[in-house]
Amino acid sequence: MVDIEVHPDAAGVAAAAAERIASAARAGGHVALAGGSTPERAYELLRGEDLHAATLWFSDDRAVGPDAPESNYAMAARALLDHLEEPRRPRVHRIEGELGATAAADRYEALLRAEAGDRPQLDLILLGLGPDAHTASLFPGKPAVQEAERLVTAVPEAGMKPWVPRVTFTLPLLNAAREVVFLVAGADKAPAVARAFSEPADPESPAAHVRPEPGRLIVLLDEEAATGLER
Ligand code: 6PG
Repeated sequence: MVDIEVHPDAAGVAAAAAERIASAARAGGHVALAGGSTPERAYELLRGEDLHAATLWFSDDRAVGPDAPESNYAMAARALLDHLEEPRRPRVHRIEGELGATAAADRYEALLRAEAGDRPQLDLILLGLGPDAHTASLFPGKPAVQEAERLVTAVPEAGMKPWVPRVTFTLPLLNAAREVVFLVAGADKAPAVARAFSEPADPESPAAHVRPEPGRLIVLLDEEAATGLER
């Protein structure tokens, strides 16, 4: 079941996401962060929290170094991680994009299995949604969407800018999570929201295949992003 929550604006979406991250962190959870602009606001809201019990992962990143402008890790560091001092700092596992997408994906999958079990069920995975209904770095029509075995895979060709190779969580890992939360704001996302979360959803939309079972799927929308859904 898709649990849809509509907030007045992007700030409301960010606040709701921040609450969910804080509560999973307090419980000592494995939490995967997303890239993108709406999550960035959520991370900023967590600067005052004690996140030491959490282990943080990234649901995707660009195959670049940790200081590159395109790096999702760099964004999370700027927005949140650099503002958390000991003893409030969580354990952070970033995708080592500087190794190249294939090696970084192999390393990240091995680390996940070592830290979270051979079939990891992460406590909370955050995701964004692109205007083409991509999520994480699962782009429509690209082979990564079909991946059925691996937990993390390389995406040699992105489906959108920035045109750099990516590393992404796969559908098997996303769908094994205890909770997946999408953060989506803005009118330009309304068609993608309708494709991914209407009943029936559009199977060409990668986000339509994120349906954790028996985990929860929560979609945090602002009013503008929700306009394409029948309510
Ligand atoms: C990435 C992201 C990607 C993102 C969406 C939505 O690395 O590009 O993880 O999946 O979440 O493109 O991004 P916005 O929230 O910025 O629109």
